Amino acid sequence: MINFGIIGLGRIGKIHLSNVQLYCKDAQVLAASHVKPKHQAFLKENGVEIHFATFAEMLKHPGINAVIIASPTAFHYDHILLAAKAGKHIFCEKPIDLAYEKVKTIKETVAAAGIHFMVGFNRRFDPHIQQLKTSIDQGKVGSPRIVKITSRDPAPPPLKFIEHSGGLFLDMAIHDFDMARYLVGDEVVKVNSSGNIFGNLPLAQFDDIDTAVTTLIFKKGCMVQIDNSRYCAYGYDQRLEVFGENGKVATQNILENAVQTSVASGHHTARSKPFFIERYADSYRNILMDFVSTLKNKKASSISAEDGLAALAIAMAAKQSIKENRPISLS
Ligand SMILES: NC(=O)c1ccc[n+]([C@@H]2O[C@H](COP(=O)([O-])OP(=O)(O)OC[C@H]3O[C@@H](n4cnc5c(N)ncnc54)[C@H](O)[C@@H]3O)[C@@H](O)[C@H]2O)c1
Repeated sequence: MINFGIIGLGRIGKIHLSNVQLYCKDAQVLAASHVKPKHQAFLKENGVEIHFATFAEMLKHPGINAVIIASPTAFHYDHILLAAKAGKHIFCEKPIDLAYEKVKTIKETVAAAGIHFMVGFNRRFDPHIQQLKTSIDQGKVGSPRIVKITSRDPAPPPLKFIEHSGGLFLDMAIHDFDMARYLVGDEVVKVNSSGNIFGNLPLAQFDDIDTAVTTLIFKKGCMVQIDNSRYCAYGYDQRLEVFGENGKVATQNILENAVQTSVASGHHTARSKPFFIERYADSYRNILMDFVSTLKNKKASSISAEDGLAALAIAMAAKQSIKENRPISLS
């Protein structure tokens, strides 16, 4: 039995917790830490009866063999080091940390501790994206030459979140950078970004932007164009296209329903799924199931600390590219 302890019961922590309780066979969330009165009802509903004020206290519980770290990014580093020292397997939300050297330390620490470590790049576990990846791997369109990723949020998160999150590149686009590496199956050698602030939030004071276009050049020549926006008037926009010698393969937005109405004014469909929680619901379930399965079968984690480090390096280069108004080499 895999007994998880969890830290972080916000937007994403709650999803992970209920997915383990509902869908992960031979696993349960046994305990929660950093528990506040506002979390009590949710924990009771989900059958988590053991509560701790701090993460360190929870790690002393002998029954816990793995942890889910869904605390704000600024605390991941400390939580990972504590859990690794206690010999617990770790599922940690992205980004691992905002500093390259700290993520390198994490990579070395979890390897030395001999524990399983997985980073929450959940999109790799979306069934539509997995199908797209299978098509690429089967060579249906030939090896990728151009990849286009559109990733636009309906609205920005609260300024309080943005301030400590790492901003557009290190918090949001990091999913797309990971997606590019995953789909292309190669490493990035050059990053070129342009960005701007179009909305009303005072993002400049956090060295942040709300809109960007990034080009990634991969070792074997594939070119990936990613466009990101914190605002999108028609809702959450998540599309991928992979173009190769023999054709293209693409995923479209997933709509709230499949009804199409055709009238004189045109053809009308439902809106796309409102945001990441709805659009990627399957992936959040699948990623935890995969983590549990790798633990049970003693297999290597599907998404490693190395993957977290590689995506962070791209995000940092994108930021530097805007600052210095030039392409950044990652070699
Ligand atoms: N994979 C994804 O799609 C995805 C989506 C959203 C967030 N995230 C990541 O998950 C993490 C949490 O984001 P969120 O949106 O759930 O944030 P949130 O603000 O909704 O929740 C954070 C939780 O951590 C708790 N917390 C605050 N300070 C803490 C501390 N010192 N120690 C422990 N816990 C503390 C808060 O009480 C809250 O319950 C971030 O790293 C974020 O980047 C990933």
